[in-house]
Amino acid sequence: MKVKPIALQKLPPDLDASRLPQHVAVIMDGNGRWASRQRKPRIMGHQRGVDTLKDLLRCCKDWGIHALTAYAFSTENWGRPLEEVTFLMTLFERVLRRELAEMIVENIKISFVGNLTALPDTLQDEIRRSMEDTQDNTGTRFTVATNYGGRQEIIQACRAMATQVQQGHLKVEDINEGLFASHLYTADLVDPDLLIRTSGEMRLSNFLLWQMAYGEIYVTDTLWPDFDRFEFHKAVLAYQKRHRRFGKV
Ligand code: IPE
Ligand code: IPE
Ligand code: MG
Repeated sequence: MKVKPIALQKLPPDLDASRLPQHVAVIMDGNGRWASRQRKPRIMGHQRGVDTLKDLLRCCKDWGIHALTAYAFSTENWGRPLEEVTFLMTLFERVLRRELAEMIVENIKISFVGNLTALPDTLQDEIRRSMEDTQDNTGTRFTVATNYGGRQEIIQACRAMATQVQQGHLKVEDINEGLFASHLYTADLVDPDLLIRTSGEMRLSNFLLWQMAYGEIYVTDTLWPDFDRFEFHKAVLAYQKRHRRFGKV
């Protein structure tokens, strides 16, 4: 059988290996519209979206990008029709079960961020297992935001610190940016250098509100299921042309 070669398997020569984003975040948007355009049910778009994410993760590994964070389900997405929500939860569980062995082999360290306790028990079990089984892996950091909301994340950090103050373990004047960040789900990750949003929407939709203070935002009209390595190449190229000033001149 002939195996299809993966396009752009190596870092494209017009990208500067010394200036790659360390951490890329993606808002995987446009699955529903992709499906509608093909006159298919929305869930087909989500299904195809999984393949896109899988290849992007492998691409990060191939190109030497250390961390990838993907927005899979927001705290607001519970407001979708029950049928779609149920499909997504089952899809996450199925994909996790199917892909775990390969992630272990590929040295990927997976983690989940968000309010995980509200997810179905069987999904929580898979999440726990995947995090445990890959915790010692030293390769690509793959973070999946599931039932994640930036505001919810900030509030739970405030509550944790307020509790410590109340119990006398923390002084109010010791609260600073570093301490605050250490209470976020992303405590052990650097802030994203590049956030990609597909399908043309120019908003954060409650994703990584604190962490994106100085992250570069790249929006493409391409719908998530069509976001391939060529599209990712364009995004990283655009990123490398940006001048990050961090408030300085
Ligand atoms: C993003 O695609 C996937 C999730 C939110 C889970 P959408 O489902 O939002 O697709 P559109 O925006 O309706 O096209
Ligand atoms: C953001 O997409 C959430 C995810 C991709 C998981 P949405 O489709 O939910 O965002 P809005 O509703 O267009 O802002
Ligand atoms: Mg959407």
